Amino acid sequence: MRAATPALTVGRHRVDPPVVLAPMAGVTNAAFRTLCREQAEAAGTAGPSRNGKGAAPAAGLYVCEMITSRGLVEGDESTRRMLAFDPGEAVRSVQLYGVDPRYVGEATRILCGEYDVSHVDLNFGCPVPKVTRKGGGAVLPWKRGLLDAILRAAVEAARPYGVPVTMKTRKGIDDDHLTYLDAGRIAEQAGCAAIALHGRTAAQHYSGEADWDAIGALVAHVGIPVLGNGDIWEAADAVRMVEHSGCAGVVVGRGCLGRPWLFRDLATVFAGEPATVLPALGEVSRVMRRHVGLLVEDMGEDRACREFRKHVSWYLKGFAVRQHLRSALALVSTLAELDALLAELDADQPFPQAALGLPRGRQGSPRPVTLPAGWLSDRDGVGADLAAAEVGISGG
Ligand SMILES: Cc1cc2nc3c(=O)[nH]c(=O)nc-3n(C[C@H](O)[C@H](O)[C@H](O)COP(=O)(O)O)c2cc1C
Repeated sequence: MRAATPALTVGRHRVDPPVVLAPMAGVTNAAFRTLCREQAEAAGTAGPSRNGKGAAPAAGLYVCEMITSRGLVEGDESTRRMLAFDPGEAVRSVQLYGVDPRYVGEATRILCGEYDVSHVDLNFGCPVPKVTRKGGGAVLPWKRGLLDAILRAAVEAARPYGVPVTMKTRKGIDDDHLTYLDAGRIAEQAGCAAIALHGRTAAQHYSGEADWDAIGALVAHVGIPVLGNGDIWEAADAVRMVEHSGCAGVVVGRGCLGRPWLFRDLATVFAGEPATVLPALGEVSRVMRRHVGLLVEDMGEDRACREFRKHVSWYLKGFAVRQHLRSALALVSTLAELDALLAELDADQPFPQAALGLPRGRQGSPRPVTLPAGWLSDRDGVGADLAAAEVGISGG
């Protein structure tokens, strides 16, 4: 048996297992976060403080879908609607995107003061051309002065509430324009509680393999906890990443799409025990039903069924399921229809082991990063008006 991996500290939060559900636009709403957290809690790997010695640690951090600071400050309805939390979410964790220190500061104050949010993560990892073309997302850390100003604005606004601020970023624009080591130093000096690194450049998008050596280099470079991110498909990968890089915790995205039980495995392996949950199709079907049930509580039956459709192929990946049944599930519109279709699945079909360890979700191919004119010639950026980099963005 391996030794247990220590809990992660993010400001006032003790996080055990040291695992973060990656913010994923269109995925990590309250229902999905609850589904994943329930799985981690089901592992039953209680830390010492659950035996009465102080506050219970959080069984992972489950970050809300990204919201834009401008949308929040300007009272945009759809932005505010995304700030829904399950009563069981002891740590309300939200990812904020912004390019202007004033808006990011004000949005952070609103999150902490009006929504009782207790962890704010700032997104500097988005590689989408419509964002980078305007200087936002993964290319913003090139402007060291502006990055510093944004981080400080958030940290200052969160301080009276005792709320930790973290940053999430990529390695840089491309291999010739790396920013992560500077960003780590700036985040530490600005008072951030941790930094998460997705080991790819913006130019890579989701292609190739995440560079775990870069995560190790960041660990060696900064004095705040580093969270490693990229290509954790199984719980064993998370342990390997920690051993390889020395990171204090891991951020898991695509690996849990259609597999929320990955969080149970993560809790078990970080407690030092071997584990791979291999649910038969009947158990997968019960998790699917729970997922939709949670969505219904938040958004009503009609929207919940529509929202669930994109998850169907992820849940069924690798299982032998007839095409007409897959297609019908991916078009489901009522709970009654869902129940009837789930009943048609072969409950005894074992988990397809061949699907283990394989990439899922976005992959894509590398492409040159579109930048604003003259972007690379200045490293400061303070006072730049990047407002257009905040219009119509939705994660990534
Ligand atoms: C559907 C989807 C939506 C995403 N949305 C966001 C986002 O809003 N904010 C963010 O920082 N990263 C976002 N990401 C990136 C993930 O948080 C994560 O960094 C990336 O997927 C690499 O981790 P993984 O290999 O574990 O998936 C998104 C990824 C996916 C697949």
